Amino acid sequence: MYAYDEIDRTLVNERVSEFRDQVKRRLSGELTEDEFKILRLQNGVYLQLHAYMFRVAIPYGTLSAGQLRRLAHIARRYDRGYGHFTTRQNIQFNWIKLAELPDALADLAEVGIHAMQTSGNNMRNVTSDQWAGVAPGEIEDPRIWSELLRQHTTLHPEFSFLPRKFKIAITASDHDRAAIKIHDIGLRLVKNEKGETGFEVLVGGGLGRTPFIAKTIKHFVHGRDILSYVEAILRVYNQYGRRDNIYKARIKILVHELGIEKFSREVEDEWQHIRNSALQIDDSVIEDIRSRFTYPAYEKLPHMPDELRQAAADPEFEAWRKNSVFPHKIQGYSIVTISLKPTGGPPGDATAAQMDALADLAEKYSFGEIRVGHEQNLALPHVAKRDLPALWKALDKLGLATPNVNLITDIIACPGLDYCSLANARSIPIAQELTRRFANHELANLIGRLHINISGCINACGHHHVGHIGILGVEKNGEEVYQITIGGRADESAALGSLIGPGVKFDEVADVVEDIVEAYLALRERPEELFIDTVKRLGVEPFKERVYATR
Ligand code: HEM
Ligand code: SF4
Repeated sequence: MYAYDEIDRTLVNERVSEFRDQVKRRLSGELTEDEFKILRLQNGVYLQLHAYMFRVAIPYGTLSAGQLRRLAHIARRYDRGYGHFTTRQNIQFNWIKLAELPDALADLAEVGIHAMQTSGNNMRNVTSDQWAGVAPGEIEDPRIWSELLRQHTTLHPEFSFLPRKFKIAITASDHDRAAIKIHDIGLRLVKNEKGETGFEVLVGGGLGRTPFIAKTIKHFVHGRDILSYVEAILRVYNQYGRRDNIYKARIKILVHELGIEKFSREVEDEWQHIRNSALQIDDSVIEDIRSRFTYPAYEKLPHMPDELRQAAADPEFEAWRKNSVFPHKIQGYSIVTISLKPTGGPPGDATAAQMDALADLAEKYSFGEIRVGHEQNLALPHVAKRDLPALWKALDKLGLATPNVNLITDIIACPGLDYCSLANARSIPIAQELTRRFANHELANLIGRLHINISGCINACGHHHVGHIGILGVEKNGEEVYQITIGGRADESAALGSLIGPGVKFDEVADVVEDIVEAYLALRERPEELFIDTVKRLGVEPFKERVYATR
């Protein structure tokens, strides 16, 4: 966990009083909705279909038990008893009342949580691997660098009014769990030949109307230069990024239009001006941040404790363990993913009661720490293997032990027409239907790893472009129609999916997915060949034929 200092606490508290005054002036009519809009956006407040929506940042996806309890309190006291974990290590509350927002923010500030820069044209919450600091084989805890960037960019005047929102993600593992290639800037921690730590820097990724996979702009930037290098990119973007056309304003368009070579030359020029300035990071700064990340006092534990050996006889426990429990860098410990995708439920939602209970379980079994991943699931990062059977029983009682992590029902979905004012179609009911359709865990396991991502409009909040199967809701002649793509992925081999044919109606989506899955099962060369690999080998044609043969 990271320990905030006095500067952070003061900043967050001052921000709450400032916003309290702004809300007061809006409620009295002194500010019009138009004048208020930019102020509320800077504090994570949107106006949605039915109500205000409030987005709260969870920096690099790390929460303490106390912070999770406070989120439960917000859900219970100011909302309708639940919250929605998003694809960007944020949590959203859908039914918040404007007059109560300052109190909600004040309650959050007490535990070091805020909503600054969770919307608006600024640097958004810097995201990272939800297994940071515990994943075996990572170069270094990427949160140290996420935190450095967080401190540098929070309320940074030069980056508070960018042409458009700006997202950075950082990973330090070979397997990319932070989806860095679909971010404006993706950073991958690497070591050079001298053994020094630095970054491969990628730029210009993003989804939405015009999706792009990020390109590498530099193979190695030394850790001490990372702020100046990121700042050079942002300066070039700030200067050249389109402000006249919202659809062309993201850095991905600039990179595309200039070409990566020209863009990188511009960045290089800018960088030479600033790299030896105060932006060069002193080792002591990194040391200070590193020292604020504390790790639990792990015990020396056996690799295979008796408790685990005995529990292995229970097929239900084994089904859960197989999909939810992952290797930890310390022997005798595991990382446990908690699926927020129960059969028939809205993906990513957790009730206040579940959040409270999870906070208790985190204290009991995970040194009081919880993680939030971009797949809209949670994780307990330090569970002793001997505790796995007891944890599983407790999770099961809470409805949080669905054994479907990384399987076909572990669906990413945006809120769609159920909440979002920009939506063209429903997303949540499609996800719910699919989880019912594939509720048979044996079948889901037979299919293996398969990610379905659903968005209710081209803004792509549900990451549909990078779903192994992507589902995009569009509107045609007043009707909801869904376009299906296959072959997308968001990991280290990130790719955009290909459209398989004309859109299909709401009622047909689950049948189409079933057809695709049946085609895959028939086409795969062996059970270990994953859906995504079969698509890579064969292209979309055989799937297209199967889906449209009878339609
Ligand atoms: C309900 C309120 C929401 C609104 C009004 C909203 C609005 C938008 C808009 C306008 C874009 C397009 C940005 C662009 O192309 O520049 C976008 C993209 C995105 N949103 Fe949302 N969103 C909402 C909820 C969510 C939720 C619930 C999630 C996560 C489940 C999410 C995560 C994202 C992500 C990951 C993108 C990716 C596209 C990218 O920037 O590369 N948003 N959103
Ligand atoms: S993808 Fe569209 S419908 Fe879904 S949350 Fe984003 S803006 Fe709303």
